[in-house]
Amino acid sequence: MSRILIAVGWLVATMCAFSPVAGGQLKKVDAEGHEWWHHAVFYEAYPRSFADSNNDGVGDLNGITSKLDYLEHLGVNAIWITPCFPSPQVDFGYDVSDYENIDPMYGTLADLDRLLAEAKNHNIKIILDFVPNHTSDQHKWFLESKSSRTSPKRDWYIWRDGKGPNQPPNNWTSTFGGSAWKYDPATGQYYYHYFYAEQPDLNWRNPEVVKAMLDTMRFWYKRGVAGFRLDAVDTLFEDPDLKDNPPLPGNDKFGFPNTHEIYNKKLPEVHDIMRAMRKVADEYGAVLLGETWTQNVAQLREYYGERNDELQMPMDLMMTEFKQPSAPVFREHISAVESAGGWPVFVISNHDIVRSYTRWGDGVHNDDIAKTMAAMYLTLRGTSILYYGEEIGMENNDPKSKDDVRDPIGRRGWPLEKGRDGERTPMQWSDAPNAGFTQGTPWLPVGPNFKTHNVATETADPNSILNFYRRILELRREEPALRDGKYVTINPGDSNVFAFVRRLKGEAVLVVLNMSPTSHTVPLDLAKAGFPAAKIHVLAASSPQQATTLSRQVVMAPFSAVIAKVTK
Ligand code: GLC
Repeated sequence: MSRILIAVGWLVATMCAFSPVAGGQLKKVDAEGHEWWHHAVFYEAYPRSFADSNNDGVGDLNGITSKLDYLEHLGVNAIWITPCFPSPQVDFGYDVSDYENIDPMYGTLADLDRLLAEAKNHNIKIILDFVPNHTSDQHKWFLESKSSRTSPKRDWYIWRDGKGPNQPPNNWTSTFGGSAWKYDPATGQYYYHYFYAEQPDLNWRNPEVVKAMLDTMRFWYKRGVAGFRLDAVDTLFEDPDLKDNPPLPGNDKFGFPNTHEIYNKKLPEVHDIMRAMRKVADEYGAVLLGETWTQNVAQLREYYGERNDELQMPMDLMMTEFKQPSAPVFREHISAVESAGGWPVFVISNHDIVRSYTRWGDGVHNDDIAKTMAAMYLTLRGTSILYYGEEIGMENNDPKSKDDVRDPIGRRGWPLEKGRDGERTPMQWSDAPNAGFTQGTPWLPVGPNFKTHNVATETADPNSILNFYRRILELRREEPALRDGKYVTINPGDSNVFAFVRRLKGEAVLVVLNMSPTSHTVPLDLAKAGFPAAKIHVLAASSPQQATTLSRQVVMAPFSAVIAKVTK
């Protein structure tokens, strides 16, 4: 009898573990129907700055491979590598000149294959960054397109006549400054570029472009890449009639008139392409992350697709715009995310935004704030994406003068826009020269706090930000309630402390976050959350002084976090 039960159990478990996907392949899901990325922790590695294996001052793929032990020990399940393809590096790789190769400065295809294989041994997946909106102006497609008005590739980009002599086709501006149109004297037309002039926009209305780009995605999936982060998806389409964007008051950081970008951003056709990309991803069981800048949760929702047939992981980048830790602000946002449905994807930093340590730090409690905010985004329902260095409290190191700036927008917009160098400095591995990133001259100077905030020093300190990250990520693996538990707020009116539980069946994990600079005593009434006589045992706390057992209340130090197990 028991053998039959075991056999039936095995069969059911096996059926639950695999489900068919388009293309007849099988993809793994767990007993609750979750795919691997649902509970995964993603880590964004900016390859120029992560680890330099050949000491030329620029990080590389072999550098990433050499740090897989570190990443596995941290609790990372997938690495998203920002573009490492051949590129003139005008936008540090976001200007791709060959989609199907590796830039020699980062290594070779063989190095990528080795990274894929070694990462697999560490149970880590590799996600590449796909830049669909534009190529480099040195890409062979653009060189061909530019060669004559009758080139077979002419229509692969957006070419138009000017409105009149020396007048671009319309008033669209580049987000990196100036008109979005560049005149080509040889053929007498303008081409469109939403980013730098060296990044001409592809014409996604041309089916040949669609096919070429989808084939590129297949090329990488076949090599073992587990998915893509899709760059700048909002800007894939433009109004074919090129209507002027309505003017808005004032000027942008580059001194150009503001406009409401309704005719060159977020056009509905974007969703057709997201669906096409998803279909291809499904052929390979791959996952798509989106660079989805949205103003609210309803807008973000659209990127999942009406039938969940677009991006599995549109990034929620909205928290990056919250100026400081604030219990009401974060609580309100999380509630909106929770009621919208969908699988959340939380991000607090990336290579385009001031680091969270600097953005949210108050100059007094920076380490405590870093821990508190980590305890928030890593314990919420959903997938989290860490930006390299967040786990050690790296801070921005902005250029001190215009001459020091490497990112072209910083030179163009100085001093209002200092560019993005500050958040892209070398990973701080140790307190050795250049933070142990390279024995050469690093392409950007290391951040000022590297002597104290680095992997080696923090590994040795039980109360470091790094060890707190490791502990939380361990709890994400160990506590089913942190993976699948329902999110329930427990102190909706508190303007200083944000507290919630993640409840699953008869147990829960309680998260209490003091987002204020003063200490507070928070009543722990968990009856409404289903625990009238809760037993509360602390699993992790940002402050070493925290008591390990709690009953009716918890005393929270300024900017502090407590994560505790709740049982009946
Ligand atoms: C995205 C990238 C950014 C890049 C831009 C143009 O916003 O994250 O770094 O400059 O797209 O590709």
